[in-house]
Amino acid sequence: MGRGCKSMGGSRLLLVLYIIWQFHFSPILSANSAQRLPGYGLKQEDRVVSRIAFGSCANQSAPQPIWTAISNFDPSLFIWLGDNIYADAKLPVRFIGRKRTSGPFKNTPRFWPVSAEVMEQKYMIAKNKSGYEALRRTAQIIGTWDDHDYGLNDAGKELSTKDVSQKLMLDFFDEPKDSPRRKQKGVYASYLYGPKGKRVKVILLDTRYHRDPLGSNGAMLGETQWAWFEQELRKGDSQITIIASSIQVVSNVSAVVQPFFHVESWSNFPAEQERLFKLIADNNVSGVIFLSGDVHFCEISRFDCGPVGYPIYDLTSSGLTQAVEELTNPLVAFVIRFAAWFVPNTMRVYNSQCRYKSCVYGKRNFGSIEIDWDADPVMIKMSVRDIFGTTVSGTEVPLSILQPGALNTQPLQRGEVRRHCTLDVDLPWTRKYLLAYAFFGTSFVLTMSPFLLGYMTFKLLRARRRREPNQKPD
Ligand SMILES: *[C@@H]1O[C@H](CO)[C@@H](O)[C@H](O)[C@H]1NC(C)=O
Ligand SMILES: *[C@@H]1O[C@H](CO)[C@@H](O)[C@H](O)[C@H]1NC(C)=O
Ligand SMILES: *[C@@H]1O[C@H](CO)[C@@H](O)[C@H](O)[C@H]1NC(C)=O
Ligand SMILES: *[C@@H]1O[C@H](CO)[C@@H](O)[C@H](O)[C@H]1NC(C)=O
Repeated sequence: MGRGCKSMGGSRLLLVLYIIWQFHFSPILSANSAQRLPGYGLKQEDRVVSRIAFGSCANQSAPQPIWTAISNFDPSLFIWLGDNIYADAKLPVRFIGRKRTSGPFKNTPRFWPVSAEVMEQKYMIAKNKSGYEALRRTAQIIGTWDDHDYGLNDAGKELSTKDVSQKLMLDFFDEPKDSPRRKQKGVYASYLYGPKGKRVKVILLDTRYHRDPLGSNGAMLGETQWAWFEQELRKGDSQITIIASSIQVVSNVSAVVQPFFHVESWSNFPAEQERLFKLIADNNVSGVIFLSGDVHFCEISRFDCGPVGYPIYDLTSSGLTQAVEELTNPLVAFVIRFAAWFVPNTMRVYNSQCRYKSCVYGKRNFGSIEIDWDADPVMIKMSVRDIFGTTVSGTEVPLSILQPGALNTQPLQRGEVRRHCTLDVDLPWTRKYLLAYAFFGTSFVLTMSPFLLGYMTFKLLRARRRREPNQKPD
């Protein structure tokens, strides 16, 4: 009896200790508990962050096996870069027929927004994916949005349903009810991780809520968000600053795929892009790395010639499910892979870590950042990985390089083309429009070939007929 009592007391003590541990210490140790903490301005000062994963473009209605590889990578933080669900409804691409959604005779919009109920349902499906649930138990998950989860393909500030979208998106991220992020206009946010000297700041930008129409060269962030952003940069409280933008920051795909495609990017808002780089330079912010998604393939870009004074990396990972080569038939996928190889791109990082010669990967992928805080200098390994977690593109950069003044770039000479410096839009026309030349060249050959073939057959027959009378006497 006495023994029993004693052991009861012991287990009760253990229980009390366990409860104390659970509520006071485990948020530091366990990422799952961290989700109960306010996401906005979260400070987890004692936890060194050295493994971060990120991704974008996940169709909630499709299987999402890639979460297993992400969990196996074992990140303490996962960052969503947008198109976290495909909320908007769409019609298939049709050039002819009654409802034409594409091409010069288009008469029907291809995408349209859905009701709040439908959007909520789609978020529930996404959150219920077993692989994603497993990751939520081991990693903290934060994120921003892009057009499809904002509510409509390529949409900006004009979208009338944006406040409802914001609420549902923040629900998806378990944002506390009293979070300032629920009261502001837009989903931008900032997080600080790690102890002094090993701090990582993550800034999530909102490139939708305040964005002016495409082609306007107008606003990308809006003045309130710019002011907040500058305040965050000014704090100077981190060694590494990861800035998540849904759309690409450095690469300008639009410049080299004209006149066929238009790709959303900061480069299509050149004034805002310049403001972004200048803000980093003016505030002497070191250790900036950009993350982006949106484009359905992945690549690592690097820009050396801006005002920042050190290499600006932009890691693009797009296609947790929606990857360009896997959404089309094998022939088109082959053409895309070929095009990726010969279309120029002055900013892309080429090295032996790439799976393909193009250093573009068009199948399902996620991105990763590994920080070796114990190395001297601190090393940052940036990678994009396939559905098995194997690197398809990567590069390693010492943190000491990401410091203002680390790069002493010579200004471009007139007509000079230099990697990581010359803008794609400034390439000579002979190189810039390779895709157009290939397309029109192939089309020309294909259209002309029946005539050519006909002409050749005609010549051949005539030549034979001429020969035939001579053969008769034989
Ligand atoms: C998502 O996947 C479902 C099921 O495969 C498919 O019907 C739907 O068209 C996909 N949505 C997008 C935006 O690709
Ligand atoms: C969540 O997924 C389980 C199976 O994994 C399924 O039984 C359940 O209906 C799903 N719930 C929702 C809301 O989709
Ligand atoms: C990106 O390309 C577009 C289309 O050619 C061009 O209008 C824009 O100025 C380019 N942006 C930059 C920063 O080079
Ligand atoms: C900028 O920051 C570096 C450290 O990252 C520091 O050495 C330098 O003095 C700063 N320059 C200015 C102008 O604040």
